[in-house]
Amino acid sequence: MKKRILSGMRPTGKLHLGHLVGALDNWKRLQDEFECFFMVADWHALMSEYEDPKDLKNNIIDNVVDWIACGISTEKSVIFVQSQVKEHLELYMAFSLITPLGLLERCPTYKEQLREIKNRDLKTFAFLGYPVLQAADIMLYKAQNVPVGEDQLAHLELTRQIVRKFNNLYKRDFFPEPKALLTQTKRLLGLDARKMSKSYNNYIALSEEPEVIRKKVQSMFTDPTRIKVSDPGHPEKCNVHNYYAVFTPQRAKEIEALCRQSQIGCTECKKEMAGIIIEFLAPIQERRNKLLKDKAGVTDILEAGRKKAEAVAAKTMSEVKKLINL
Ligand code: TRP
Ligand code: SF4
Repeated sequence: MKKRILSGMRPTGKLHLGHLVGALDNWKRLQDEFECFFMVADWHALMSEYEDPKDLKNNIIDNVVDWIACGISTEKSVIFVQSQVKEHLELYMAFSLITPLGLLERCPTYKEQLREIKNRDLKTFAFLGYPVLQAADIMLYKAQNVPVGEDQLAHLELTRQIVRKFNNLYKRDFFPEPKALLTQTKRLLGLDARKMSKSYNNYIALSEEPEVIRKKVQSMFTDPTRIKVSDPGHPEKCNVHNYYAVFTPQRAKEIEALCRQSQIGCTECKKEMAGIIIEFLAPIQERRNKLLKDKAGVTDILEAGRKKAEAVAAKTMSEVKKLINL
């Protein structure tokens, strides 16, 4: 029997290269080894976007199309939308009963987001409970593993705490304690060398036009100590070089030597990188555009995913209801 994994993404905007290198490539590889559930976390998106939800539906379709274009298979994996499986909210409530407030108030991601995100009112009841819904997402499918980035480790730890308490109170070993799968080794930063993110506007979208990619790559920060072309460069201090390491490790070695010996200028180096990204994204964009021409087909995929997810979710929830005497 294959072990099960569940992971999710919030549909808050277009997916970009950071999502591909940081998550989707990983998901794609895991599909053969695990039984995979990949979820569009639309309730989680609404926890921060509730004041302006107009793009939500579009983002859901757009993101799912990108997942499939990047190689997430509708045959191998279950692709579904959180809000379409109502059991997520039921288990969220059951977990809320037993989650101590202090655990949520002390959660480092919660405190950080309240501090950092100024353009939204996140002082809501739902946002405090964000990790409780995430715990329900995972445990509804009794997933043993959760592929996530490091930023999600605190939420996974909270999930384990909730699970331990649930098992202690109602039934030993009912839920497995899920573990993070931190297999991602590559890391792609944004154009300004901060984390690639919509809110920093430093990303290259998977759907980006070639002209825009060329412009964006030319705007990237390079080795700040290299002023003239004749100055030797330090590729280890250069984000563009890191892009080479991620997309073409072989060429990265050559670029490293050329850069150190001042045999290539940054403009030329970035022009070549733009070409590499454009070529890399071309087949993904071709599949993407095909899928977008048939939106009814995408809806059908999500309906099939909903059915499969719901079958598992309903079974877990009926067991849970028995355990808590509902
Ligand atoms: N919180 C996750 C993120 O922002 C998204 C998410 C929601 C998730 N539910 C999940 C991830 C369950 C893993 C498992 O990236
Ligand atoms: Fe970076 Fe390339 Fe310029 Fe070297 S030549 S500093 S690797 S952009």
